[in-house]
Order: sequence, then C-alpha cells, then structure tokens
Amino acid sequence: MSEKLNVGILFGGRSVEHEISIKSATNVAANIDRERYNVNLIGIDKKGGWYHCDKVSSDIEAGDPISLRLSSAGHHFYNLSTNEAILTDIIFPVLHGTDGEDGSIQGMLTSSRIPCVGSDVQSSANAMNKFTSKRLLKEAGVPVSKFLYVDFQQRDNLSYEDVVSAVGSPFIIKPASLGSSVGVSKVSNEDEFKKALENTFTYDNTGIFEEFIEGRELECGIIGNSQPIATNPGEVVISSDYEFYTYEAKYLDKDGAQIIVPAAVTDDVKSKIKSWSIAAYQALNCADYARVDLFLKPDGTVIINEINTIPGFTDASMFPMLWYDSGISYTALITKLIEMAMARTKESHRLETNFATREYQN
Ligand SMILES: Nc1ncnc2c1ncn2[C@@H]1O[C@H](COP(=O)(O)OP(=O)(O)O)[C@@H](O)[C@H]1O
Ligand SMILES: [Mg+2]
Repeated sequence: MSEKLNVGILFGGRSVEHEISIKSATNVAANIDRERYNVNLIGIDKKGGWYHCDKVSSDIEAGDPISLRLSSAGHHFYNLSTNEAILTDIIFPVLHGTDGEDGSIQGMLTSSRIPCVGSDVQSSANAMNKFTSKRLLKEAGVPVSKFLYVDFQQRDNLSYEDVVSAVGSPFIIKPASLGSSVGVSKVSNEDEFKKALENTFTYDNTGIFEEFIEGRELECGIIGNSQPIATNPGEVVISSDYEFYTYEAKYLDKDGAQIIVPAAVTDDVKSKIKSWSIAAYQALNCADYARVDLFLKPDGTVIINEINTIPGFTDASMFPMLWYDSGISYTALITKLIEMAMARTKESHRLETNFATREYQN
C-alpha cells in the first residue's frame, strides 16, 4: 500500500469562534480515515501561539510549541521540544472567522508552499467581507438584499432617513467582516439606529445596512471545483423568542434554533436553491467546499445571504448533516475534501512548471 498522506489539522485560533473551532476539529479528528491519513494536530491558542497537540482540546498550551521552518530543502512545521519536523503534506484548517477563514492563514500556508484544504487567499477574503461579497454576487446576477456600506469615519454623514431610503425599513446593520451574529442588530426606528451603529462599530470599522428579509433561513452545502455539486437545503428554524438568528439563539439558548435536514420545500424550490447556491460559490471562486446561507421569501424568491468558506463541523453542524443526508458519511466527506485539495495543488504545480519551462526556453 502506498504511504499515508500526512494531514495537519489546524484548530483553535484567535477569533471569537475559537471554541466552535475546537468542537469542529474534535469531530474532524475523530472521523478522518486513519487508514489513509497520518494526522498531526496543530492548535492555535487565543493569544496566537501555535502548538503540536496530542489531542484536540481547549488546553492547547499542553502541546509542544512549534515554529514554521522555511528551508531550501522544503518548508514545514517544526516541533521545538522534540526537534522534529511535523509532517504535513496538506493542512486542513478547521478554523472559523478572523485569522482563520479570512485568507490570512491561507496566505501564510500558500507563501510557505504548504497545500491547504478550501478556498484560497482571495476567495476566503472576499467571502469573509460581506460588503465585498455582496458586490461580487450582485455583479454576477445572484440575488442579494439591498445593501448600503458604512464606515466608522463617515458614520455621522448618514442619517436614519438616508438608510431607510436606500434599503427600506426595518433594516439590519452588521459588521462587514465578522461572524456568529456578533454586532448584528435589527433596526425599526431612529433610537435603535444609534444603538445599533454603536454595537456594530464596537467590533469592526466597517459595516453594512441591509433591507430586512422576512423569510425562512436555509443553508446549502457545496463541494467541488470545476463542477461543484450542491446538497438539498437544510433549514434553521429560529425560536419565536428571537427576531433573527442572534448570537444567543445560535450558541447560548439550547432551544434558540432547530436544524432541520432536509428542509421541507418543494422540488422546484430545492432546485432553485441549489442552482443559486452554486452560482454564488462560483461568483466568489470558492474551492473544495463551502456552505451557502440564504433566505426563502414567502413568495418563493431566494436571496443569498452569505457564504462560509469553513463551515462548522460540530455534531450539531449543518454542513456534515447535509452531506450525510445526501449519502456521504462524515469520513467520506473529509476524504473527498482532502482529495480535491490535493488534486487542485497538483494542477497548480503543473501551471508553474509550464511557466518555468517557457521562461527557460526564451
Ligand atoms: N438582510 C437580512 N434580513 C433578515 N435577517 C438578516 C439579514 N441579515 C442578517 N440577518 C439575520 O442575522 C443573522 C446573522 O447575519 P449574517 O449575515 O448571517 O452574519 P454572521 O456571519 O454573523 O452569521 C442571520 O442568520 C439572520 O438571522
Ligand atoms: Mg450567518
């Protein structure tokens, strides 16, 4: 049998979603096919320290400190306690949000020539920024809500009336580059407007206003590169105690929301959702996988809300559930993602080799 591929699972990270990443990575480490892959667990603590860990846990500092060795013989991670290279033919970043899902880790790995599962620097960064992604989706003809950009410097130049005339009332305000519903508010009057602005700018220097979409919240799983495929949608049914899918409903209140897989929608709606989700994935040039979140209005209209390039992999996460419902087990899904990323990497090496050869011949 050929040698096993060495997979480095990255988890933790400095974002507000540190704990979710640990839960996601626990599941990835438990379900990855050990017959095929050697696994190295690399934890990033909340302060940004990197460690080689025996297991996925919140006690990341219990691991050995590591460095990234950039050597002409090949770049790799290095265990500073054992003085050994940590073999990683490919990294699977199971990180969510800032410094993990936004292109920064992807950039570090790319410039270190270490293959990585998932979207590249540019696509990750574009998907993470809600203002950038909305503009790209709109330009590609993908249906999105009406939106208006605001930043901390010019916030006083925008009145409540300006926002209402641009996007209607009620509206949503949210930080441009955050997740987990942190800093998101629904606004129905001028008093709420002031508080909501303050809330958003506590977490980000840029934000967007959006028309409030009254509808069901659905999510669709996508995998693939040249020909992406989509799952049937799942639904997040939010408890009537909440006006939208708030941080509390997501993480604090066990009755805050219910995940239904598959969503009860007609075949027509299913296929419309799948094709818009694939269009959104392609508009942002995503790689390997993503979860597309959307609204379904009572009249059957689909509005794409956002694209998560590293969706949750916890027990209660929609993405693996959607694929399970499509007949792909957790283990098979992880294998597929790694195989797609390896194939993509080979393809990019082919391009580089051709270029080097041409240059030489000239
Ligand atoms: N335009 C909108 N209309 C209605 N609800 C919205 C809108 N935008 C966001 N929401 C609500 O806020 C939640 C979080 O917003 P979202 O854009 O998904 O940001 P996050 O990245 O924090 O998940 C959504 O799941 C939804 O419940
Ligand atoms: Mg969301």
